[in-house]
Parts: sequence; C-alpha cells; structure tokens
Amino acid sequence: MNVYLDNANIGELEKKYVLDALDSGFISTRGPLIKIFEDNFGKFLGGYVAATYSGTAALHLSILYSIKKYKIDTTKKIGAILPAITFAATSHAILYNNLYPVFTDIDPSTWNIKISQILELIEISKKNGIIVKFVIPVHLYGNPVEMDKLLEIAKDYDLIIIEDAAEAIGSFWKNKMCGTWSNFGAFSFNANKVITASSGGAIFSHSKEDIEYIRFLTLQARNESKGYYHEDLGFNYRMTNIEAAIILAQLEKLQYFLNLKKQFFNIYKDKLSNYVEFQKTNQSATSNYWLICCKFNHKIKIEKIIEYLNQKSIPTRRIFYPLPLMEFYKPFVKEYLDNSIENFYKNSLELYNYGLCLPSSTKNDLQAIDFVAQNILQILKKT
Ligand SMILES: Cc1ncc(COP(=O)(O)O)c(C=O)c1O
Repeated sequence: MNVYLDNANIGELEKKYVLDALDSGFISTRGPLIKIFEDNFGKFLGGYVAATYSGTAALHLSILYSIKKYKIDTTKKIGAILPAITFAATSHAILYNNLYPVFTDIDPSTWNIKISQILELIEISKKNGIIVKFVIPVHLYGNPVEMDKLLEIAKDYDLIIIEDAAEAIGSFWKNKMCGTWSNFGAFSFNANKVITASSGGAIFSHSKEDIEYIRFLTLQARNESKGYYHEDLGFNYRMTNIEAAIILAQLEKLQYFLNLKKQFFNIYKDKLSNYVEFQKTNQSATSNYWLICCKFNHKIKIEKIIEYLNQKSIPTRRIFYPLPLMEFYKPFVKEYLDNSIENFYKNSLELYNYGLCLPSSTKNDLQAIDFVAQNILQILKKT
C-alpha cells in the first residue's frame, strides 16, 4: 500500500492548465493567470491579494511593508514575538528585516503561540532594550490561533499583527478565515501544503492600496511607464504564470481536499485518541488538518516509532525543532532571556521529544490512513 506524508496531489486539471499556460507563451512573472489567481483568492478570502514567489517572500514583504507603513524606527532594537515552534521561515523573515525574534513557548494543548506569555515577554524585552512592535502568530499545522484574544492585546499595546497562515488555508478562527484577521496574512503554496503552486505564496490584506504597493515591490518596484525606472528597493518576488496555472487548478479542488483531510483526522482520532494526544482545536475554530500530528506518552521513544513505521513504508516526520534551542538562534534569545532557555521553552521541547507528524497527504485514501492507525496501535500495544 502506498502511504504519503505530505505529497502534492496533482491531476489532469493542473496538467491542462499548465500546458495552456506554456502554449500562451507567458511562463514568467508576467501573464494573465497571476491576476486571475489574485482576484479569485482575494474574493475567496474577502479582501485583496498579492501573489508571491513563496510563503517566505510573503512574510518578508508583509513585515518590510509594515515597517514602512507604520514608520517603525529600525535604528532601535525592534522585537517581533513569535512561537518557539514553527517552520524557520517565520523567524528568518524577522531577521531579513533586522528585527529581533522574541519567542514564546507554545500552548501545551493547541501547540500554538502561548498568548499568556506575550505581556511578560514585552516587559522582559523592554528591560533588555528591545521594543516589541510585532506579533507573528502561526496557525501551526493548520490549527487556528485565538485571534480575537491576540487582537485585544495588540490594540492595548499598539502591536502590529502579521499572521503566518502558510499552513492554514481553509482554517477558520470563529467565522473568519485564518490569514484575514489582522494587518497582513501570509500564505504558502509550497508542494507540501493543502494546495500547491509548486512553490508560491500570497499576501492578504483588507487594504487595496497596501496590496497594490506590495505587488509593486514584488516586481522590482519598477515604474513601467518610465521604462526601467525604479522607485523603491524592489524584489523579484512575484509568482510566475506557470505557478498561477497550477494554483488555479488546485483552488478548484480545495474544498474536496479539506473534506478528505477532515475524514483522515476522524480516522486517526477514532482509532488512537485513547493512546495519544492530538493537537487541540478550540471549539470556536475549524482546522484544515494540513498535517495531522500527535503526541505520544513518555514511555515511548519517538525514534523507535519512526523506525517501526518506516519498516512498514509509512513515512512520518518529527515536529519542528524549537527555534530558540537552535545554536543559531540562541544568541538572539540571550538578548532578552537570562534564565534557563530549556526551562522557558519546556512545552516546546516536550512536543518535539514526543510529537510526530502522520501521513496526511490527500494522495492517500481512507484505507491508507486506517492502515497507518492500525500500525500505530500495534506498536503501542507492544510497548
Ligand atoms: C509556518 C510556515 N511559515 C512559512 C513557510 C514558508 O513558506 P514557503 O516554503 O512557501 O516559503 C512555511 C512553509 O513552507 C511554513 O510552514
């Protein structure tokens, strides 16, 4: 039986749209499909969209543009709060903008940013000369962050919120989609996401004007009416027409993929919830179940489970390594934290030690997911 972890699900429709795009001659960052994608995705989300080359580029530009728009004085040490567990693109984008990453631990049940630690971190950072201006919540593995709670803090403390919704297309916090709650939302269409453009990403905003300027930045900030004349520091960050062809086909399948993933989660939950802990989705939220992960109890070595499942040709993946515990990031953490780093990030470390990402690709069928769950049960019974 073939089992897939997070592989892209590409079919005839994507091939057709790509061939049509190739035949049209528009293969680069010029081309009608990019605009069509921006319009469709903007309508879907209820605002405006700039198509980007990747989710990382979307994060980079969302922060860069916010610094510009809100006239943040980056000659000072400016902090951006984010969770300890996320893909490194979140913190890399903070560093591209010469800001200081300030990590919260994770909430032990949702595995998302620990909102209750934000005020403490603002204070600790301030004592160490870092002024926190940004919060970058991440809807980890598609599980929505409590956005209204976060927005209240942002209002009280004058913080700019940029949602890393890279993994959260189709997830909702209350009645609003993840990525649309705050100043900007960054999406990724990397090959492993719910829908893909091969690479690719998008920035969402409720402001047309902001998105138009960001789009201009993705195209080298060139004023085309004056030829090769550039009016700002630009980037080659726009999505290509070929990527837009793929994502347009994938968008048509989004609801089908979301329904399938929900069924995958239900199978895992029904079979395993007496034995493992799943990432908890708040009652007010809907997860897209991008990557279904669970946490094992302390009696079990995660490496053993991975090895056992691997022997059955079942691919799995460890949880993201906590960023503040990486040697590269430790000097940044030491800017604001004196006490034991391991202790401050204990929930993150525990999740890393005992958590596992399970096959969740929509290339799987229900039997494949059932097969994975049965095999996990087997190993749990043996230990
Ligand atoms: C949480 C998170 N942020 C940012 C990114 C970056 O997106 P991309 O790979 O499209 O650059 C990813 C995924 O790849 C992600 O999972």
